[in-house]
Amino acid sequence: MKFSEKLIEWYRVNKRNLPWRLTKQPYKIWVSEIILQQTRIEQGEKYYYAFLEKYPNISELAKTNDEELLKVWEGLGYYSRALNMLKASRVVLNNYKGIFPSNYDDLIKLPGIGDYTASAISSICNNEVQPVVDGNVFRFLSRMFKIDLPIDKLKTKTYFKKLGFKLIDVVNPGDFNQAMMDYGSMVCRPKKFQCHKCLFSSNCKAFNSNTVMLYPFKEKRIKIKHRFLNYIFIITNDRKTLIKKRNGNGIWKNLYEFPLIETKKESSVNEIIKELDFKYLKFISEKKIKHKLTHQQLNISFFTFKVSNFDDDLTDIKALSNYPFPRPINKFISELV
Ligand code: ADE
Repeated sequence: MKFSEKLIEWYRVNKRNLPWRLTKQPYKIWVSEIILQQTRIEQGEKYYYAFLEKYPNISELAKTNDEELLKVWEGLGYYSRALNMLKASRVVLNNYKGIFPSNYDDLIKLPGIGDYTASAISSICNNEVQPVVDGNVFRFLSRMFKIDLPIDKLKTKTYFKKLGFKLIDVVNPGDFNQAMMDYGSMVCRPKKFQCHKCLFSSNCKAFNSNTVMLYPFKEKRIKIKHRFLNYIFIITNDRKTLIKKRNGNGIWKNLYEFPLIETKKESSVNEIIKELDFKYLKFISEKKIKHKLTHQQLNISFFTFKVSNFDDDLTDIKALSNYPFPRPINKFISELV
C-alpha cells in the first residue's frame, strides 16, 4: 500500500474529534488554523468557540476594533495574528464581496496568510493539492527520510514542500494534510515518539539507524535573552490605578500594562523608588513572576505602592478586566484581593 493510503486509513480510525473538522467553511477553517499556529490544540479549542461566538462571520469580524479583538485573543500570545485577521477580514469584505476565498492563490495574498495557512485552507475547503509543512510534518518527514536541514531556513521549507507534493494524496489532500499533522502530534511525537506503534517504522530511516532522537535536526540553540521588567502598580485610596497602552513593535503590541521600568538586571525596591516620578505614600509589596517566551525570559516584578490622589487619568481596579493585558499581568491582576 502507498504511504498516503496507509496514512489516510490510519487517520479515518484515529483522527481527533476537533470542532473545525465538522465544517468546510473557509472562514471557520481560517479561524482554526490561525489560532493553532502557535497554540496547543486543547487551548485552541476554547478560543475557537469564543472567537466564533463573538465573530460568527466575516462581516462581524470586520466591524470590530483592535481593542475588542485583542480582548477575545487575550492569553493566546502572538497578537499580530489577531490584528492581521482583522486586516484580512476587511480585504475580504472589500475585494471578495465578503466571501472568504478558498483557493490558494487568493488566500496567500491576504494579510497574515502564508504558505502553511493557504495550503491548509485550500486543501481542506477546496480539495487543492497543496501539502502543508508545519512543525509536526517537518518532524515526521525529517525522521522518515533522515533530512539534515535546519527548520529555520527558506531552502528547507522549499525542500519539504517539494517532498510533500510527492507524497500527498491527490484525491483527499485535505485529509492527507490533517493526517500528517495528527500523525506527527500523536505518534511521531517530539520526545515520546511511539515507534513501536508506528505503521511506517520499517521504512523510517531514522528508526532503522536508531537516530530518531536526533531529528528534527537543529542547527544551534537560539540564545535566550533575559529581560527585567519592573511594573509599578499604584493604588489610590479609592482603589484606582494607572495603566498605559503599549505601542511600538515589540512583544505585546497594543496590549495594556502598568507603568514600566525596564532594567538590565534585577532591581531592589530602593533602586526602583529612585526612578519614580510620582510621590508615593507607602511601598506595599513586591511580587515576582517569571515568564518564558520563545526567545526571551521575562523576569517580571510588580511593585505595589499606595499613592495619594493623582492628576493622571486613572482606572478603577474593578474595571481592569475590560482591557486586554499580557498573560503574566493578567495573572497578577487576577490574584489581587
Ligand atoms: N494543527 C494545526 N492545524 C491542524 C489541523 N487542521 N489538524 C491537525 N493539527 C493541526
